[in-house]
Amino acid sequence: MTYFNRHRRLRQTANLRTMVRETHLHKEDFIYPIFVVEKENVKHEVPSMPGVYHLSLDLLLEEVKEVVGLGIKSIILFGVPNDKDEVGSCAYDDNGIVQQAIRVVKSEFPELVVIADTCLCQYTSHGHCGVVENGYVQNDDSLALLTKTAVSQARAGADIIAPSNMMDGFVAAIRHGLDEAGFVDTPIMSYAVKYASAFYGPFRDAAHSTPQFGDRKTYQMDPANRLEALREAESDLAEGADFLIVKPALSYLDIIRDVKENFNAPIVAYNVSGEYSMIKAAAQNGWISEKEIVLEMLTSMKRAGVDLIITYFAKDAAAWLSENE
Ligand code: PBG
Repeated sequence: MTYFNRHRRLRQTANLRTMVRETHLHKEDFIYPIFVVEKENVKHEVPSMPGVYHLSLDLLLEEVKEVVGLGIKSIILFGVPNDKDEVGSCAYDDNGIVQQAIRVVKSEFPELVVIADTCLCQYTSHGHCGVVENGYVQNDDSLALLTKTAVSQARAGADIIAPSNMMDGFVAAIRHGLDEAGFVDTPIMSYAVKYASAFYGPFRDAAHSTPQFGDRKTYQMDPANRLEALREAESDLAEGADFLIVKPALSYLDIIRDVKENFNAPIVAYNVSGEYSMIKAAAQNGWISEKEIVLEMLTSMKRAGVDLIITYFAKDAAAWLSENE
């Protein structure tokens, strides 16, 4: 008989398959995003993101307690402020919604790693991630405001600053600002490789951050580009980034792999809102098996090379992983 390889030998039983499994998901891989709002007694489900809520500060700890109880080590906070203006003043107000939320969470759960998303788009009346003049988002003027925001978040107790605005030089500016303010040990998790993606649609409903004119294509990346991702990651690392985020995740697994092969910083996938909503919608229709699909999807991100995953599925996935322990 002609010789051929019998790959199926190693697939015969569940235990054997576990022994030769190359990629593993852990609860500590997950970072859970939470949307905080002003007012009281608010727990409103985001219509396009079933299972994701707007939470007011008085109800936040209940949610965080659940997250911690599930074994998740980190959350990322997004603020949805009441008031917006041209220059996003509420983003860098020491009593802004995110600053307050950080203080509330850290006072009860000092061990939880609290990440602050640093951007202006939820806070500006025009919905762009920086200062707008003559219809154009001004890079260098925006840096000063983003730096103020980051320092204010660090002062409130944020463990990690995650700038998502895609202005050039934002890591250098924020690193410098944090250092000057004495926060030399506060790491920067940079949204280094962030595409101008339609997959952010449900998030913009959730965060009320849809641009009021134009789009984000003059600062976020063209989905067609691969080499540009390496240039972005390289600059951010040179400027002092401690983690590199690739965003979105699912349609960009090739980019994750490229970044992993070229740089040795911890890499984070952002499994974004659209990726969440598509699965939720299909699952609610009974068209797919949510648990299996979610675990397969998250595994694919780790297989592609990430160390951590920001995902709205964090709570579900952590619970599912516990079932198998
Ligand atoms: C803010 C920001 C966005 C997301 C995270 N931070 C939206 C955007 O750039 O329009 C998207 C997250 C998601 O879709 O889950 N700049």
